[in-house]
Amino acid sequence: MNMQPERVNGIEQIQTVAALARETWMSHYVPIIGRAQVEYMLEKYQSVEAIARQIEAEGYEYYLIPACGYFALVPDAANRSMLLSKIYVRAEKRGTGLGRAMVAYAEQRGRELGCRELWLTVNRNNAGSIAFYKRMGFRKTNPLVTDIGRGFVMDDWRMAKTLSSRSKADRLPRPG
Ligand SMILES: CC(C)(COP(=O)(O)OP(=O)(O)OC[C@H]1O[C@@H](n2cnc3c(N)ncnc32)[C@H](O)[C@@H]1OP(=O)(O)O)[C@@H](O)C(=O)NCCC(=O)NCCS
Repeated sequence: MNMQPERVNGIEQIQTVAALARETWMSHYVPIIGRAQVEYMLEKYQSVEAIARQIEAEGYEYYLIPACGYFALVPDAANRSMLLSKIYVRAEKRGTGLGRAMVAYAEQRGRELGCRELWLTVNRNNAGSIAFYKRMGFRKTNPLVTDIGRGFVMDDWRMAKTLSSRSKADRLPRPG
């Protein structure tokens, strides 16, 4: 699947991500967590202001695949780990390999930054995405319940996968 993610850094791209977030979160999360929590979380985490702040001050890297979806990474050099913070493919583009390509990009970026682990959180009732992550080699590590204010909680699984620092080819015994 040919996909070229654009690193998000300007206001127009941020506006595009915020619009994609609203579209995908509304259709996907309202049945899982309800409209009030989705509206609250969109405002808190995926408004233009919130995304700009995450990029400028909180170490987030956002990537956009125009008209298809977006993902966000948060590298943690000290712990040699990287959070796959967001991964959203527009409904009509799902099942075509974009999610897999996004995870592959995240793994490559993690290795490039010396990270050994890629991790994420996923709502416990987000069954399709949990199945997708398992297919991508992630395993559940522990449940995570996070109070996000105004009476809302995120009831998640933490999932992770190890990033090997060497490619398979490097591990093959050398001839002779
Ligand atoms: C989860 C998501 C990012 C996957 O992206 P995608 O482009 O549809 O996934 P792909 O087409 O790359 O699928 C990759 C593999 O995962 C499998 N897979 C994808 N979605 C799946 C699902 N719902 N259930 C079971 N397997 C699934 C595919 O069958 C495929 O397997 P294969 O390559 O071995 O045949 C996308 O469906 C999405 O945006 N979902 C809604 C938002 C969401 O919940 N995001 C995650 C937030 S934590």
